[in-house]
Amino acid sequence: MNSAILGTGSYVPEHVLTNADLERMVETSDTWIVERTGIRERRLVESGQACSDLALEAAQRALLSANVKASDIDLILLATCTGDTSLPSTACLLQHRLGATKAAACDISAACCGFVYALSIADAYVKTGMRYVLVIGAEVMSAITNWTDRNTCVLFGDGAGAVVLGLGSPDSGVLSTHLHANGRLSEMIHVPGGGSKEPASREVLDNKRCYIHMKGNETFKIAVKSMEEAAQEAVKANGVIMGDIDLFIPHQANMRILKAVSQRLGLAQEKLMINLDKFGNTSAASIPLALDEAVQSKRIQKGHLVLLAAFGAGLTWASALVRW
Ligand code: UT7
Repeated sequence: MNSAILGTGSYVPEHVLTNADLERMVETSDTWIVERTGIRERRLVESGQACSDLALEAAQRALLSANVKASDIDLILLATCTGDTSLPSTACLLQHRLGATKAAACDISAACCGFVYALSIADAYVKTGMRYVLVIGAEVMSAITNWTDRNTCVLFGDGAGAVVLGLGSPDSGVLSTHLHANGRLSEMIHVPGGGSKEPASREVLDNKRCYIHMKGNETFKIAVKSMEEAAQEAVKANGVIMGDIDLFIPHQANMRILKAVSQRLGLAQEKLMINLDKFGNTSAASIPLALDEAVQSKRIQKGHLVLLAAFGAGLTWASALVRW
């Protein structure tokens, strides 16, 4: 028996940061950002709003849509690289705020692949007898963004998406998941300071070591190749062909990456889910945010074959095939 996505939910903060706003902050232009990334605006948290606040809203909406009570959840997996604090896990804060009293809870750290990694772990638990697992991707990327670095600050946004996983049927639900990592390329995208290697200090702050550093151009090329590979792997593993896919939901990193990947896969543009124009790159939140939008807008219907593919820091890459 497969696990199935019983409900979805998402939440983005209200504050909108447009490309015009960024023009006033760094040497950039709306034209450059739209042409090179496809992003027009992104959402940012208000001061005092943290990862658990976004996760809570998304989780409550997912529980409502799944018609599952928080007290019935067995496990909470929160994919994030921007938790409220480094200790305890943000999943524990969420467990308390949801009133999910019997749920075990932990964070999953796999950057932009975090949601697909967490989905894969949840799937394994449901298949082996667990009843309900709450899987969330929630990020406050604005907290680790250097707002004076035009190479990165135009890309990221804040948000959260969630799903409730429970028992499906033999021919629907999560058909397979595929996870990969290559730590040799860990410095392609990283936050060098603020952890145990370079603990928080005045120097770390002054040298902007507690913010995302990214080799954008090199990452771009690997992202296209890895997401294509992961997508092909999911299709092959299930004996289907790319033409059978009803909706492709890739990690929303850059419009040019999404178009290049779907072109290489031979997928028509109308099968590609895009919402990064509104939200930018929200890391682990990006796929569940797009998934919830696709469900809400009825782009996903019962029986549809939905392909998820992600890529991000680690480096990590991953995919999942879901029969709705
Ligand atoms: O989710 C994690 C995965 N991350 C990604 O997938 C990110 C992948 N990479 C990208 O999306 C792209 O590489 C970027 C959007 C980050 C950059 O686009 P690019 O086409 O690769 O640009 P580039 O880095 O090669 O830079 C081209 C030029 C440079 O100027 P020169 O050296 O040619 O004079 C940059 O300094 O564009 C300049 N540039 C900018 N100009 C205006 C870089 N950022 C900006 C900016 N506004 N914001």
